[in-house]
Amino acid sequence: MPFTAADYGVLAASTQRTVGVILGVVAIGGFILYWLFNWFAGRAETGSEIELAPNRKPLPDDAEMEGRRLDQGLMAGLVCIVVIAIALPLYWLGEPGRHDGLIEVSDELAAERGDHLYEERCATCHGSVDGPGGLRDHTLVDNNGLFLAQVQWKVPSLAAVLYRYSTEEVRYVMEYGRPNTPMPAWGIQGGGPFTTQQIDEIIVYLEHEQIDIAEIRQRAQDGIASTARNVARTELGEGASSDDVTAAAQQMLADAADDPVRMGELLFNNTADGGVYGCARCHTPGWSYDAGEVAAQNPLVPHEIPGGGGFGPPLANGATTRQFDTASEHEAFIVSGSQNGIKYGNFGQGDGGGQMPSFGICVGDRDAGALEYITRADFCAEHGGEGLLTPEQIAAIVAYERQL
Ligand code: HEC
Ligand code: HEC
Repeated sequence: MPFTAADYGVLAASTQRTVGVILGVVAIGGFILYWLFNWFAGRAETGSEIELAPNRKPLPDDAEMEGRRLDQGLMAGLVCIVVIAIALPLYWLGEPGRHDGLIEVSDELAAERGDHLYEERCATCHGSVDGPGGLRDHTLVDNNGLFLAQVQWKVPSLAAVLYRYSTEEVRYVMEYGRPNTPMPAWGIQGGGPFTTQQIDEIIVYLEHEQIDIAEIRQRAQDGIASTARNVARTELGEGASSDDVTAAAQQMLADAADDPVRMGELLFNNTADGGVYGCARCHTPGWSYDAGEVAAQNPLVPHEIPGGGGFGPPLANGATTRQFDTASEHEAFIVSGSQNGIKYGNFGQGDGGGQMPSFGICVGDRDAGALEYITRADFCAEHGGEGLLTPEQIAAIVAYERQL
């Protein structure tokens, strides 16, 4: 939707005009009153100008000047000082409230603008912020830019994006996009159309629309169930009846309750909300467009090898046991994710904006400094500080990854 006049403050200008007209009327009316008053209060001349000019009258004597008059003057001064002494601190007491008010108003305004920008530029792929994400047509090409296949790419939901990424990390993806995926660069630095302020406004809007932690847990849980169905359908083959698939999926979930590796596998491949609660979308090549099916038609399309590496590094063939000596170090990394330029494990380093998400803690305002004026700086505190996955779920994923 394009900007309306209201966005550019045209409404505000007409309010100002109304105030101006009222002030003008009051001023002119006042002047007329003053003039009438003068007219009626005018006195006849008192006498010859040589004795007493008409604009002069006899002054009080010294006794009065230094007595009653002086006291009146001093008293007026005292009253002014008392008024100032009380009014200034009172005004000052209201200052924090005015400051908060300004932040709130700017925040609302930014979110409103961000809403317009989001609807115009993001919703076509991501759907509504609190929705389940979407699908996007995408043309796969090989390293030489030659056509491989036409696929449908799973677009992640942004409903919990500020739990797993800090505002600076979200800014990074928006600024530069995601290479080799349909996510384009939006920031000027990445060659896109948006200014820093517009990106800020979208982030503020995203922040307003984040779902709460109970809903996140529920969606992740539902995702595990539908992932189990997908696995069961693949294992049983095309001909399987829906009842068989349901029974096999239920058996799988029951087994997974006692078997962390099986549970870890389901969590790793969690399909909910475009894959945001899982890992496969970044660590399994082609997961985002179901490469398994596409590769059956074109052998040049990369095969969907679990943990084979995609946007994120390969995790298979013992890669994670070399990177992390112990499971608890490995878990700690999944909890907090990577940060740009910060080392992890034995030889890892967060590259490109810290794009490995945080799964165990909320990090939305980890580096919110840049947005101080337009964002509430306590996003994570307000949302309980928890991340997308529970400690048990993370332990299960780590158990699965370490045996890949
Ligand atoms: C043409 C489709 C498309 C449009 C338009 C688009 N995105 Fe994306 N976006 C994607 C896809 C696809 C991904 C996931 C890429 C991948 O598989 O890693 C993504 C990823 C993201 C991510 C990273 C999320 C994560 O958890 O990995 C953010 C943040 C994001 N987009 C924000 C936006 C915003 C904000 C806009 C609007 C300014 C926008 N996107 C417009 C397709 C799109
Ligand atoms: C949005 C993409 C994305 C998702 C989703 C994702 N990762 Fe990552 N992961 C990365 C990136 C990128 C790196 C490399 C670190 C960096 O560049 O910041 C990484 C690094 C890792 C590493 C370290 C590998 C090494 O050898 O350096 C492990 C382990 C890992 N991820 C596990 C997981 C697990 C477990 C999940 C799911 C709970 C997950 N990842 C989900 C992108 C992702």
